[in-house]
Amino acid sequence: MDKLRAVILGATGMVGQRFVKLLANHELFELSVLAASPASAGKKYGEVAHWYIEGHMPKETAETTVVETTVENVRKAGGADIAFSALPAEVALKVEAEFAKAGIPVVSDASSYRMEPDVPILIAEVNPDHLNLVKLQSRRGWKSFIVTNPNCTTTVLVMALKPIDNVFGIKRVFVSTMQAVSGAGWGGVPSMAILDNVIPYIAKEEEKVQAEVLKIMGSLTGEEVKPAGFKISASCHRVHVLDGHTEAVFVELAKKASPEEVAEAMREFKGRPQELKLPTAPENPIVVREEPDRPQPRFDRYEGRGMSVVVGRIREDPALDNGIKFVVLGHNTIRGAAGNAVLNAELLAREGFI
Ligand SMILES: NC(=O)c1ccc[n+]([C@@H]2O[C@H](COP(=O)([O-])OP(=O)(O)OC[C@H]3O[C@@H](n4cnc5c(N)ncnc54)[C@H](OP(=O)(O)O)[C@@H]3O)[C@@H](O)[C@H]2O)c1
Repeated sequence: MDKLRAVILGATGMVGQRFVKLLANHELFELSVLAASPASAGKKYGEVAHWYIEGHMPKETAETTVVETTVENVRKAGGADIAFSALPAEVALKVEAEFAKAGIPVVSDASSYRMEPDVPILIAEVNPDHLNLVKLQSRRGWKSFIVTNPNCTTTVLVMALKPIDNVFGIKRVFVSTMQAVSGAGWGGVPSMAILDNVIPYIAKEEEKVQAEVLKIMGSLTGEEVKPAGFKISASCHRVHVLDGHTEAVFVELAKKASPEEVAEAMREFKGRPQELKLPTAPENPIVVREEPDRPQPRFDRYEGRGMSVVVGRIREDPALDNGIKFVVLGHNTIRGAAGNAVLNAELLAREGFI
């Protein structure tokens, strides 16, 4: 099969750079066009992208001229069979619809369409059946569709909650987060604000986490997703870590379980990407660590090439009925953003949606 031509929308940003890295030498996709704001358009990628990722920027990419983000410009610059979007939400709202309408499927990291009833928020291991929602999007007059990624904090949390819900059921979840600065994008948090500091507020984050978790873990019945029935409360905080979101999670189970049983359910958890051996799928979506002081962002964020989440400190929670608490860590721009989107695109390709 010929490779599918891919455009990255928002290619110069934190998530856009991860897309560049993940799509270099990919077996299903080839990077065809790089698009960004009018400020970067017409310039070489190497001049305008503030490369913050380990390793070098691919040489060919550095020499590629960035185009302004319109369907017409993308067509002129080489065309695309799929768009990976890392645009700010307010820009994505208009631009992603234009690409979907023009017949270019969009796999998006932006929040603009996540809560639309006919748009899936997809984690390939968790809710692959929700992909069927995209068939409804033709009613919008679009030739193609949008599939969204969750918010980065949500992705890491849902990965850990899914096997617990599958095996024991969930009644209530509390989560307190310690989120990396790269989660706010290039220039998102000034160094004077974050060094030697913790900021106990991230705009709209708690609302996103609370709503998205219930949609992703909900069940698709007919043409709509019925949200999961448990209650969830999130408190979100920015910490001076470069990459990797850490989350302290407290769960009231429907059926009592020991920490060992919860650890076993997590270790055994696999999904469609592992069955299909998708190129970006980690062998183990969840890695459970036994040491009392893990996971830690510096040591654990690249587990499974940044696609696994790492869980540790699983223990009983005496303040909840059938309570379990643990810590989960995931790489926010890989599993929490570009990596999850590439995995979703691989699933779309292998399942015949594109
Ligand atoms: N960072 C994370 O961990 C993370 C995780 C999950 C989801 N997300 C979401 O992913 C998206 C990108 O986040 P990010 O962290 O990569 O942000 P970022 O570093 O600020 O990058 C934003 C990108 O969008 C482009 N852009 C800005 N205004 C534009 C316009 N008017 N037209 C076209 N392109 C425009 C920028 O191009 P220029 O360089 O030319 O300005 C840049 O390429 C956001 O919606 C964010 O919420 C981020």
